[in-house]
Amino acid sequence: QDVVDFHGEHQAGIVTPAQDRLCFASLNVLTKDRAELISLLKDWTAACRRITRGLDVTETGFDGGSEYAPPQDTGEAHDLSAAHLTVTVGFGRSLFQDSSGKDRFGLKAHLPKGLIELPHFAGDQLEDARTGGDLCIQACADDPQVAVHAVHNLIRMGFGVVSTRWMQLGFGRTSSTSTAQATPRNLFGFKDGTANLKAEDSAAIDDHVWVRDDSWLSGGTYLVARRIRMILETWDREALSGQEKIIGRTKGTGAPLSGGEEFTPVDLNMMGSGNQPIVPVDSHVRLAHPDTNHGVQMLRRGYNYADGTDTLGNMDVGLFFIAMVKDPATGFVPIQKKLAREDALSEYLRHTGSGLFAVPPGVPADENAYLGQQLF
Ligand code: HEM
Repeated sequence: QDVVDFHGEHQAGIVTPAQDRLCFASLNVLTKDRAELISLLKDWTAACRRITRGLDVTETGFDGGSEYAPPQDTGEAHDLSAAHLTVTVGFGRSLFQDSSGKDRFGLKAHLPKGLIELPHFAGDQLEDARTGGDLCIQACADDPQVAVHAVHNLIRMGFGVVSTRWMQLGFGRTSSTSTAQATPRNLFGFKDGTANLKAEDSAAIDDHVWVRDDSWLSGGTYLVARRIRMILETWDREALSGQEKIIGRTKGTGAPLSGGEEFTPVDLNMMGSGNQPIVPVDSHVRLAHPDTNHGVQMLRRGYNYADGTDTLGNMDVGLFFIAMVKDPATGFVPIQKKLAREDALSEYLRHTGSGLFAVPPGVPADENAYLGQQLF
């Protein structure tokens, strides 16, 4: 009962209730051979069909093959359950054309219109080694070893065809994506995911998440990843009331500052003392709210991360922000532009990594079907 079906109209790991753990990898494609790329996607599909059921990558498994060949599965998840593993694969802009615009695999004509070059946002401090990529793999599970095993094995199977560009582990999901889930807290201690799109609201998911057109991407979506470092050393010295004004919600229950309970809709028009709005003009919730963004919503599916310390001994911790959107140009870029400039929260954040990927539709149960088939 801890199995999430790999098959379906859409890839799993998007509206699937967010699992506890993330292993995310961005890959470079090394081969120049389109057939090799397709063959890898077929191998990945076959592997995903098994590992999402809690099985080894192949029937031969991690100790059943020839003693003279490397094992067909690396073994670390052999005794573990499926732990709600989902594997979601996406394609970066650089898969379709290289930086000089050259077609790499005969795919340039199929570059989806939403797979744009993300602009530089105010305050961005993106590191090359944490940015971009030809392919991405998002593995989510309730057990970190299961998520890592998935990415580990897909990368291993691609030896010589792909190489790892960057990788990110995440814990303690920072969003709820189902009404059945309690809202978790991020590393600033605030409930995160309260006003998120929820899987049960299929009309809103249709409006804001799934691409619907006559292209290969129809039924898919776009995944925006941002590695956002949170400067805890500064945040932790901010007074409670200051923290709440920056977010626009209370720290305790997560209710909007305009009143009510956690899920009471925020009233952006309510005025407070000094004839100032109770939900401040530079608060995160006001600036990210659909009412101040032409009705735009996104499916947030991020995770906390903690990657040790920097050379000064400051904690390198934060939020690995993931959002699924129908069109990044309208559904992410304008909001992030605004947040980067006006959001009081920005003072405590540093964007250090970034990626944008087109996520193809799901794989049918038919055994000949494979990930991304619609593109090829
Ligand atoms: C809401 C935290 C980055 C978009 C929230 C809430 C918190 C929060 C505490 C209120 C609870 C909720 O409704 O989920 C953070 C932190 C961030 C971050 C700590 C960075 C480390 C971003 C980014 C975006 C974003 C980069 C998009 C570009 C939103 C949206 C909402 C929201 C759309 C819901 C607003 C509403 O409808 O009320 N965030 N956030 N957040 N955030 Fe963020």
